[in-house]
Amino acid sequence: MKVIIASDHAGVKLKERIKNYLKGKKIEYTDLGTDSSDSVDYPDYAIKVAEKIAKDKNLRGILVCGTGTGMTIAANKVKGVRAVAAYDPYSAKMSRIDNDSNVLGLRGRFFPFEKVRKIIQIWLNTPFSGEERHKRRIKKIADYERKR
Ligand code: RB5
Repeated sequence: MKVIIASDHAGVKLKERIKNYLKGKKIEYTDLGTDSSDSVDYPDYAIKVAEKIAKDKNLRGILVCGTGTGMTIAANKVKGVRAVAAYDPYSAKMSRIDNDSNVLGLRGRFFPFEKVRKIIQIWLNTPFSGEERHKRRIKKIADYERKR
């Protein structure tokens, strides 16, 4: 598994800390920006990452903005992406088990790094349950996306 990571200006500091964490865990990643605190628009970064994730099942996306919500909303517009804005390890974990989430949206502002670390750790290491009812529900989302 490889991670594609990006942030807007509000998430750039946290993105650097996350990259150090991934490095420490020997998890391969690609950083698609942004690289400074100059103001940028989060959809540009969310969509860039989401399009890569939609094309390759071996990739996971991590997106950081001020709240994690804007990035998640934008990423979920890309067909095949199931992005979760996780503020706690439980929702990160269940988004893998039940929803097979492939993008994680994180909050860069007013949020302790220790919590971020736990969320990422559990999100990267929890497999999708593969249970029929969950596959059926995910398929309904995919069917809807195909019809649009
Ligand atoms: C940027 O100020 C902020 O709106 C953005 O980082 C994010 O929180 C949007 O959801």
